[in-house]
Parts: sequence; structure tokens; C-alpha cells
Amino acid sequence: MISPMRWDRDRLIMLDQRVLPTQEAWLELSQYHEVVQAIRDMAVRGAPAIGVAAAYGMALAALNHVPKHQAKAALAASRPTAVNLFWALDRIDNMPIWSFEEVLAEAQAIEQEDLEMNYAIGRHGAELIAQGANIMTVCNTGSLATAGHGTALGVIRTAHQEGKGIHVYSCETRPRQQGLRLTAYELSAEGIPFHSIADGVAGSLMRAGKVDCVIAGADRIAANGDSANKIGTYSLAVLANHHGIPFYIAAPSSTLDPTLPTGDLIPIEERSAEELTHIEGIQIAPTNCPVFNPAFDVTPGHLISAIVTEKGIVRAPYSF
Ligand code: MRU
Repeated sequence: MISPMRWDRDRLIMLDQRVLPTQEAWLELSQYHEVVQAIRDMAVRGAPAIGVAAAYGMALAALNHVPKHQAKAALAASRPTAVNLFWALDRIDNMPIWSFEEVLAEAQAIEQEDLEMNYAIGRHGAELIAQGANIMTVCNTGSLATAGHGTALGVIRTAHQEGKGIHVYSCETRPRQQGLRLTAYELSAEGIPFHSIADGVAGSLMRAGKVDCVIAGADRIAANGDSANKIGTYSLAVLANHHGIPFYIAAPSSTLDPTLPTGDLIPIEERSAEELTHIEGIQIAPTNCPVFNPAFDVTPGHLISAIVTEKGIVRAPYSF
């Protein structure tokens, strides 16, 4: 199982997800601000993996005698939507001692707990998957997006390992194509039958009766179940509801944000115009083309058939 990062003595070795699947390049990060940059530039991405990376960033800060508040503030400013980032930073901030050994041990605990939560999400979520199901998913929610196994992709992985004979439709996920580049990479490696599709194909597949359920991850889930996830997830939920297809969210409890009563309050990251106007550095849009590029959208809880966490399966009305 591929892992997005590992700790090695005094540095964080991070898989550079920007160049997958054609290159497997590893970054060696020895300063917390390099971790800030890696999160911002999406060398590491996916809500739980961002949280784990931030925790290791704090370990690097402690190792280099950087004040805790300075490192925390910089890491917290790297990306705004995934609450796992703030959850991990608060967990380390709340430790009574700011020492490298203690912070490293906590970062490793966060990573290990995430892996265990994902296995539990997989077990619970697989109960929702029928034999021979065609499952649609979006973005990358697998080993690369977490400490391992994955959330929505973890459910898919477990269902496959249980011999359910599933097939996956993996949405390309414009503009950064996490589905085409990363989910396809993980599904291929695991031998899970799948087809990658352009995002616009989802509706016609549903109309043709070729999708049995949709499962997505989340970056932040408000108290009422409203769930922020990769841009395009809301469209899939509306389509699924229109066609009477179950739409599921899978996420660890570190993705819950009970301080926000509704999803309207979730901060939505806007990213650069270049993500849309360029592909692999080649300009494909008119120069100075005006662009609106939100990285996430919010799916209201009433469109979500069930939310799977490591604790089990919950259904609407949600109250976290
Ligand atoms: O912008 P990204 O690639 O970090 O977005 C990732 C997602 O939207 C995932 O679906 C979400 O973080 C859940 S990952 C288990």
C-alpha cells in the first residue's frame, strides 16, 4: 500500500503527488515551512493526509526550536477547508510540552490512528455495497489522501477485498484531475476493475442505470451533516438524488466540525486561475481569461443517504 509520507530520523519524506502517476518523486523536508509549502502547492493533499503532514511539520518546528505559535500559524494558513489540518494542529498545540520527541510521537499517533479509522470506515462502509455494484467516486480519497487505505476509496478497497465483485466509475476531477491521476493509479495497483470518466459523463451513466451508488470523501462536515468535498461532489449528489441512487460520504471523525451548525459556514478555498487555464504548464485559455476556481463545494446533508465514520453508519437527520 502506497503511503504519502514517512518520517526518517530528522526529516519528513513526502511523495510528490503533483507528478504522479508518471513519476515517483520523493521530497525531503527538514523545515516546517517546507511542509507549509508542500501542503499549499498540493504535493500532499487529501484532508487526513494534510492533517498528518501538518503534525509532522510541527515536529520539524520543535526539532529546529521554532516557537510553537509561529509554526502553528503558518501551517494553519496553508489551506483553509480541510478541518483535519486544524484538528491535528490543535491536538499538538494542546500538549503540555513543546519537545521534539513528544511532538513526533503525537504526529506518529495521529498517523497510526488515521490508518485504523480508515480500516474501520472500510468495514462499516462495505456493508452498504451490494454484490457486483457499480460504484461512482470523485477525487482521490485513497491511501494517497490519508495515512493509508483511504476513506471512500477505503470502502471500495474493502468491498473489493471482501470479494464483492465491484466495478468503479472514477470521475476525472477537473481541474487538478486527482481522479484520473491518483485514483486510477491506486485502483490499477490494486487490480480493482474501473473506468475513468470525464466529469460530465456521470449524469448519462446514472440515467442509463449503470451506477448503483456514489461514494465520496469529505474535507469538513458541519453539525447538520452538510459536507464540503472536492468541487463537483454537490453536482454528483444532485444527480444521484434525481436518479434515486444512494449517495454516501465516508470520513473519519477528525473531519467533523461540530462548531459549525451548517455547511454555509465552511470556508471554501479558491485556487489559482492557472489550474484551469493551463494543463501541464501549457496555456489552453485566452491570456487573462477571467476564472472562478473554487476547490470545494458543499453537499447539503439532506442529499446524503448515509455518512460512514469509523464509529459506524449514520443517516439523516444528522447531528454531530
Ligand atoms: O484538493 P484536495 O485534493 O486536497 O481535495 C481532496 C478531497 O476533496 C478529498 O475528497 C477529501 O480530502 C477526502 S480525502 C480522504
